[in-house]
Amino acid sequence: MKTIGILTGGGDAPGLNAVIRAAVKTAIITYKYQVVGIQDGFDGLIKPGKMKPLTIESVHGILPKGGTILGTTNRGNPFEYKVSQAGEVVTKDYSSIVAHNVREAGIDCLIIVGGDGTLGIAQRFHEMGLPVVGIPKTIDNDLSATEFTFGFDTAVDAATWAVDRLHSTAESHHRVMLIEVMGRNAGWISLYSGVAGGADVILIPEIPYNMDSIVAKIQRRSEGGSKFSLIVVAEGAMPMGGGESYVNEEIDKLAPKRLGGAAETLANRISKLTSFEVRTTVLGHLQRGGSPSAYDRILGTKFGAAAVRLVSQDKYGYMVALRDNKVYDIEIAKAVGAMKTVSLDDDLLVSAKEMGICFGE
Ligand code: F6P
Repeated sequence: MKTIGILTGGGDAPGLNAVIRAAVKTAIITYKYQVVGIQDGFDGLIKPGKMKPLTIESVHGILPKGGTILGTTNRGNPFEYKVSQAGEVVTKDYSSIVAHNVREAGIDCLIIVGGDGTLGIAQRFHEMGLPVVGIPKTIDNDLSATEFTFGFDTAVDAATWAVDRLHSTAESHHRVMLIEVMGRNAGWISLYSGVAGGADVILIPEIPYNMDSIVAKIQRRSEGGSKFSLIVVAEGAMPMGGGESYVNEEIDKLAPKRLGGAAETLANRISKLTSFEVRTTVLGHLQRGGSPSAYDRILGTKFGAAAVRLVSQDKYGYMVALRDNKVYDIEIAKAVGAMKTVSLDDDLLVSAKEMGICFGE
């Protein structure tokens, strides 16, 4: 009999509840283990009153729900916990409190669901002697060890839906419409939703853009009779020789830096350089919320069940991932710290270019 603690860390992603449900059901039904849900990521192992047993009943009806029933945070790294003291931000190391609380709660091992940051923390706990199993998660799809992360497919669907809607109004008003999508420093959401939504220009962080080529593209379209254009801009996109734009650098020193403003910057430049009317939409967290797609529910389910299988084999320090569309496992240490960005020979990128979509080169 083992007791598994499960937590979700970092930004939420559609499909997290599918993971939790699969892990709980597999643990209880097949292995007769107990499961403890830890609330709000690692905060649940630092602060009191944030653990509760998870039963089959606890996971009834959660499969189609967005978010995570356990709650999450992208601020609580226990090794470098930022707190405000007398107006100053100070960093504390709460890792020994976490290790103590895990043992105190009778938890034999942790299933940690998160992106690169959370999995990096999982690895540090593994090195401290805590048995951990990782599950990769992010809408950004930027983890190198896995072909896909759950959440990405739903985010791409949401962004595609938005591009579709902007198309009709852009066409009616003969406007250039920009939509900024998430993805941090990887262009996956932008590339996929841009192609799926039929965008004319797609900007990704991997290809710093040249204004002249964007202006030439929308002018060519206009001269050809299409007096409107759709531009999908990754939040991490930047002009050649320029940098990323952030929204909260100055105002919130406890929070990680947040990308934002890339589309607005570009819109202002297009307005200055052309006579087109330009409008900007920032899709934001609409990409993260809501019911997961069938693909994300299935991937989350596979990952949740496979993580418990690793626990049953006492295979700690590993995470589950997807390769050749099959679940496999890999040492967390080998998986973290290497971002998966869009490579210039990516087949979708190559096909999109061949179809005349402008990437600002
Ligand atoms: O990593 C997921 C993500 O949604 C990024 O695409 C985005 O840059 C960031 O998180 C937003 O973070 P927050 O939820 O803190 O605004």
